[in-house]
Amino acid sequence: MNNQKKGRFIVFEGIDGSGKSTQIKMLSDRLSKTGIQSYSTFEPTDGPIGTLIRQMLIGDLATDQRTIASLFAADRTDHLVNKKNGVCHKTDQGQVVLCDRYYFSSYAYHAQYIDMAWVINANALNAQLLRPDLTVFIDVDPDNCFERIKKRIKQKGGSLEMYEKIDIMQNVRSNYFKAFEAVRKSETIAIIDGGQSMENVAQSVWEQVKELFESEK
Ligand code: ADP
Ligand code: TYD
Repeated sequence: MNNQKKGRFIVFEGIDGSGKSTQIKMLSDRLSKTGIQSYSTFEPTDGPIGTLIRQMLIGDLATDQRTIASLFAADRTDHLVNKKNGVCHKTDQGQVVLCDRYYFSSYAYHAQYIDMAWVINANALNAQLLRPDLTVFIDVDPDNCFERIKKRIKQKGGSLEMYEKIDIMQNVRSNYFKAFEAVRKSETIAIIDGGQSMENVAQSVWEQVKELFESEK
């Protein structure tokens, strides 16, 4: 670890359709207006392991929940340290990185099928490599998210993915809260009501981000 001022790593979490990508775009625009350039990224990645995972999520490639949980942990390590655009290199250089999903997604989604402690353990190296300065959880009712996803499919095409089922979304939401409780001593988590208008959600996100930047001045 060098002594150089580290950048910020801000993660967005939530169930499918909760508005994470919308809020990352809005935050990136707002940061840019204040003169702060940020780098936005996402998981599963568009690298080799993430591409494999996406084939599994749409049902093109058969898998098993244990395999997919392990692949997500490996995709995350690649996301952090790969030589082309690894996130650790960016934060080490002082960049602000906004990330759509990180290890809390693994804790919440895979704990439906495997003990959460195993999933946390499988991601221990990732947590050691880079812990978010802030995790923003956009909390939206699963029924509302499911309606949003169906609307998006109607407008833009595509079909429902592996975890886009109402009972799964309810389980995942509940697992997020269990995960926050399990690791709350080592993490900074902001829970935001994502049922408001996009602008109001963005304002709530901004207040948390501002606090983070001001506390580290
Ligand atoms: P995610 O990245 O979490 O899957 P998106 O940002 O893609 O979510 O949002 C899912 C859908 O819901 C999109 O069609 C988006 O325009 C819409 N949406 C996002 N935020 C809100 C909001 N606060 N109120 C209503 N619709 C929203
Ligand atoms: P994503 O493309 O972010 O979906 P959405 O935009 O609809 O929220 O993520 C794809 C799916 O991958 C989503 O259902 C959540 C799941 N996922 C996991 O199961 N484990 C993980 O570790 C991550 C990062 C995502």
